[in-house]
Amino acid sequence: MERTLIKNLADNIGKEVLIKGWVDIRRDHGKLIFIDLRDMSGKVQMVALPSHADAHALANTVRPEWVIEVTGKVNPRPEKMIKADEPNGTLEIEITAIKVLNEAQTPPFDVGNDGRDINEETRLTYRYLDLRRPRLQKNIRMRDKIITFFRKYMHDNDFVEIETPIMMKGTPEGSREYVVPSRLENGKFYVLPQSPQQFKQLSMVAGFERYFQIARCFRDEDTRGDRQPEFTQLDFEMSFVTQEDILQYTEKMFVQLIAELYPHKKISQTPFPRITYAESLEKYGTDKPDLRKDKADENELAFAWILDFPMFEKDKEGNITAAHHPFCSIKDEDVDKFMAAESGGKHSDDIYSIRANSYDLVLNGFELSSGSIRIHKADMQKKVFELLGVSEEEQQKKFAHMLEAFRFGTPPHGGFAPGIDRIVMILQNEPNIREVIAFPKTGEGRDLMMKAPSEIDAKHMKELGISILK
Ligand code: AMO
Repeated sequence: MERTLIKNLADNIGKEVLIKGWVDIRRDHGKLIFIDLRDMSGKVQMVALPSHADAHALANTVRPEWVIEVTGKVNPRPEKMIKADEPNGTLEIEITAIKVLNEAQTPPFDVGNDGRDINEETRLTYRYLDLRRPRLQKNIRMRDKIITFFRKYMHDNDFVEIETPIMMKGTPEGSREYVVPSRLENGKFYVLPQSPQQFKQLSMVAGFERYFQIARCFRDEDTRGDRQPEFTQLDFEMSFVTQEDILQYTEKMFVQLIAELYPHKKISQTPFPRITYAESLEKYGTDKPDLRKDKADENELAFAWILDFPMFEKDKEGNITAAHHPFCSIKDEDVDKFMAAESGGKHSDDIYSIRANSYDLVLNGFELSSGSIRIHKADMQKKVFELLGVSEEEQQKKFAHMLEAFRFGTPPHGGFAPGIDRIVMILQNEPNIREVIAFPKTGEGRDLMMKAPSEIDAKHMKELGISILK
């Protein structure tokens, strides 16, 4: 007999079916033994009657999380046992045979509840069990739906998905990078991308005009509730566009996403309010204002655009750095000031008032996305590097490919990169992004299930030309 998925049982009333899955709960009512069975599609109540002696005896032995297959008849439930508001609440399976496919130890925690009271270290150590709980199943399945929506939206608008390298050279995006030692060239290293920023811009030089990628990014920074060492962006870039084009394209995409996948949620204001960075700091004291009218309302979504970020800022040590990244173009109104600015530490504080064509999208107080219209001319790009104190030699060493590419007919271009983990977190009403990532890391960057990071053996170290300073 072919397997029937639990969600399709209602189409099989009166018929014999074969179903497979995990034992959710077993309830012993003397002669009657009730078992709830769970598969990827849903849950159903089954009953073992003494009249099917073998099945009844086996039903007595099964325990939660055992994997079984059951042959049985789909019966309408007796009137007084109907639970009309539950899936399969109007039917039950009369078990005629059970086959145990695999037994299970008693799990370290209950997987049937929402799990919020369980110690997170234990949950992450047994993540494959933790993921069985309905809340996490839903989060991961909704994440898939959201990504599928984005892919389709992008494809419908003539974007091409391009996979860019995971092993690359350093990116100047502000965070510490993860490094990968080279075996063939001892003493040299790849780094993992903080984002595909340079590759997406080079894809514009290559003439693709509309690039996107569901891109994994890596940043060796302290993790927080809304930060993981590896995370995913909907990364995109467009040629021959203005900032206004990108804002409108993105806004339409988010409005449509909510309408299709979260129709019960309400966007507080459309078009999304637009606030300059300076206004936002002055009015709200932050560049990520939470504009919800009712912060207790899970279904309110307050999007806002933050515009005109400064091009430069001071880092913790007081040194000049790019506020977003060094590839942002300068606002027309500030180009004269930019061209007049002196490099090599001689610049005045006036330099920090130069604004970039860069923008963020915030949602309910979280930064959802950043982007900008980029520089597409080598001399402008060099000037930014100079102001940032990057020497000519350093520019050649790190960015020769970008500066060179800009000399071969680079179109004006710009892009954006919404963080997918944060989007799913907010839409699923979760307090942190670990709840919407299948196999996340702890705050200290550990994978508690696999026990990573871990040592590698001496032979491997030797091949890589690496020794460890104790
Ligand atoms: P940025 O660094 O602002 O821009 O990142 C864009 C978006 O990515 C998400 N994000 C993160 N999510 C989880 N964990 C993290 N550690 C993390 N860091 C960032 C956020 C953020 O808004 N290349 C540019 C984009 C561009 O200019 O087009 C970039 O990466 O949602």
